[in-house]
Amino acid sequence: MVKKALEALLKEDRVFPPAESFRRRANVSDPSVYDSAAKDRLKFWADLAGQLHWFKKWDRVLEWDLPYAKWFVGGTTNISFNCLDRHLAGPRRDKTAILWEGEPGDERRLTYVELHREVCRFANGLKLLGVQKGDRVTLYMPMVPELCVAMLSCARIGAVHSVVFGGFSAEALRDRINDSKSKIVVTADGGWRRGAVLPLKQFVDEALTGTPSVERVVVFKRSGSAVPMKKGRDLGWEELVGNQSDSCEAEPLDSEQMLYLLYTSGTTGKPKGIIHTTGGYMVGCYASTHWIFDLKEEDVYWCSADIGWVTGHSYVVYGPLLNGATVLMYEGAPNHPDNGRFWAIVEKYRVSVFYTAPTAIRSFMKWGDDFPGRHDLSSLRLLGSVGEPINPEAWIWYHQTIGGGRCPIVDTWWQTETGHILISPLPGITATKPGSATRPFPGIEADVVNDQGESADSGYLVIKSPWPGMLRGIYGDPERYREIYWSRFPNLYFTGDGCKRDKDGFFWLLGRVDDVLKVSGHRLSTMEIESALVDHPAVAEAAVIGKSHEIKENAVVAFVTLKGRAKATPELNQQLKEHVVKKIGSIARPDEILFTADLPKTRSGKIMRRLLRDIAEGRALGDTSTLADAGVVNSLKEKYEED
Ligand code: WTA
Repeated sequence: MVKKALEALLKEDRVFPPAESFRRRANVSDPSVYDSAAKDRLKFWADLAGQLHWFKKWDRVLEWDLPYAKWFVGGTTNISFNCLDRHLAGPRRDKTAILWEGEPGDERRLTYVELHREVCRFANGLKLLGVQKGDRVTLYMPMVPELCVAMLSCARIGAVHSVVFGGFSAEALRDRINDSKSKIVVTADGGWRRGAVLPLKQFVDEALTGTPSVERVVVFKRSGSAVPMKKGRDLGWEELVGNQSDSCEAEPLDSEQMLYLLYTSGTTGKPKGIIHTTGGYMVGCYASTHWIFDLKEEDVYWCSADIGWVTGHSYVVYGPLLNGATVLMYEGAPNHPDNGRFWAIVEKYRVSVFYTAPTAIRSFMKWGDDFPGRHDLSSLRLLGSVGEPINPEAWIWYHQTIGGGRCPIVDTWWQTETGHILISPLPGITATKPGSATRPFPGIEADVVNDQGESADSGYLVIKSPWPGMLRGIYGDPERYREIYWSRFPNLYFTGDGCKRDKDGFFWLLGRVDDVLKVSGHRLSTMEIESALVDHPAVAEAAVIGKSHEIKENAVVAFVTLKGRAKATPELNQQLKEHVVKKIGSIARPDEILFTADLPKTRSGKIMRRLLRDIAEGRALGDTSTLADAGVVNSLKEKYEED
């Protein structure tokens, strides 16, 4: 992957400066913002924070005790207040906040004042259930406005939300509930996906067979499917909010009050609960949305990410609502009822800013130009990309076929851990190059370093100083936080991404350098999938690698050795795939499983995944001199090629 991407990127020399008409109206168009932010980073962020509402202003902008940052120390605020109440006094009161389309084609619109009312009612409902400041609430929901309502309600009263993506299995949900010790789970009777109902409540029931912390389950009615309700534990959303008052004061919260946990995959078998807090995260989301997506009062903004991922947290919910935007939300799949669904939505709602992932763009390319060609996409004025490196070919297609050659593209680099975008063009300033995320956002100090941690043109992407929305740790595991992010290079935040910097100082992201995979935009860990495989009674050992894939970026390939009596049959192969789905979810289903008598190992017993990658990619084998038994890879290579 890295090598191929690099070759393509090295040839890329096209440049796309912003059109004069775009630049003239852009929220930021003066390139001196970079210098002034660099001169006084703290002032830069403090000025942006000053545009939001604080119950009490902060005493100090930053307290930095590596690896722990505190932003806007001593200040109190509330992100739910800033997303809602702040807009109610002016013309945004009756502006559409959420424009929602269900997969079957049903529609809902909520204005800011209506969204505020729903949030107050649900927040009061949560209080009635005994939820207090700091309590964790797990949200396992489809893409419906009530998911935003639930998040903003937690934030309003200082409870911590932990959204679990609906594509995770019951077991994965259980682990996340237990790690966070959530008191409440909010779910739905189902959500529509590709014409079928995803039975979320059933998964919750399965998960809750082993979750001692959970007291109550709130069930939103979306699909109308009949679901069993457990007496004393489960109650309907309507039943809960029915008698609740429309007003609930937003709690003044310490800037460092925990806002949410979001579980993400790392390089071990266990997902990490990434901690985000209130004030800094709010400022980072607010500013990046305003500057990068260039939102105007009349825009219809659509980020197609699921709220179960960080992109949905920061750029479906918090960033746009902080900016008083009209946010489009779509419940279902991009290919239902046909491959043109997204473009039908753009046309129908006159979407003007559209943000999606390269994996989606590559699928659209494959489906052909006819689908977008049938729809009027002239409302679009800005396009965004996130989640993986975008190959120049997909960038150009996106620019021409979707953007009609007139929309700037913002290729935004960031992570669950960073909270908000750290590297991206500013669409009224930056002359973009297809495949490059261009430059660090003003106020962000990023660098590329070699193995020794010295600044270099190619190597690893690091961040040199704290930023407002940075993670505040891994829930319940401070040691791991220090080790993963702060031990590889002294005093630098290690991103885990390979990166090259060109002569103009532009950053070209080259994918992960660790065992984290991106499969159709979903972040997965090879170790997590390996643990799921070895959990099966027939499996002795497993090694999982990502093989480059034309559309999904990575395909999951597993090499598996079986225990004594187990037979390597196609049925077992299938069973193992299902086992991974059961343990993690369908997003982690291996594309290929290869049975093998042995795995290539070093003399000290470490599996050499690099060689497995060479085999899966059909490349000549790299250095095999440290192998304990060189015969293993040759026979494996032959076997792989036969299969
Ligand atoms: C990758 C998603 C290249 C990167 C917001 C990072 C990108 C990981 C880009 C984080 C981009 C994200 N160009 N690579 N524009 N954006 N990545 O936590 O490898 O799901 O480390 O957050 O996605 O994935 P996560």
